[in-house]
Amino acid sequence: MTELHPDLKRILISTEDIQTRVKELADQVSNDFIHADPLYLIGILKGAFIFLADLTRHLQVPHRVDFMALSSYGKTTVSGAVRILMDLREPIEGQHVMIIEDILDSGQTLNYLYRVLRERNPASLHTCVLLRKDRHGLEFPIDYLGFEIPDVWVVGYGLDFADRHRTLPYIAELKRK
Ligand code: IMP
Ligand code: MG
Repeated sequence: MTELHPDLKRILISTEDIQTRVKELADQVSNDFIHADPLYLIGILKGAFIFLADLTRHLQVPHRVDFMALSSYGKTTVSGAVRILMDLREPIEGQHVMIIEDILDSGQTLNYLYRVLRERNPASLHTCVLLRKDRHGLEFPIDYLGFEIPDVWVVGYGLDFADRHRTLPYIAELKRK
């Protein structure tokens, strides 16, 4: 086994556990959306791109994929505003939409996005999130959740720290600086 990068404290979720869980989530979604043709998946850049890529390849229902990019300010403040950096190419009115996100931390990003997309009148709007941190924040309902994790900074499988460690195949806890 290769040694862990010095920035990393420990592996939180192994490659194998991620792959097993992502397949389970895809099976669940395939089951629940058998009559939603097509399902419109919206991946939130950049963090969700690997999760989305793996999830979609296990899906057994017709689906389309698009992306949005968001940025948030003032992460530590309650009022932290979220901004759309890149929007969808097409309207989602009347579509069965599912937001695919890497992680729910304070919940501000998803909370904002959910409200924005709701206003565009989709037929349905669901959320599929790989990780949720165990911390006090906004209560946000997640329809499909991969894993609960402790309140630490994690990287890998799409998640980064200053754009680093995004392509690790596992999820690891970053060392505190
Ligand atoms: P929230 O708005 O506080 O829920 O933040 C969600 C966003 O912050 C996610 O989409 C991630 O991009 C980023 N984020 C939060 N926690 C982590 C982490 O531990 N590692 C990497 N990115 C994170
Ligand atoms: Mg993100």
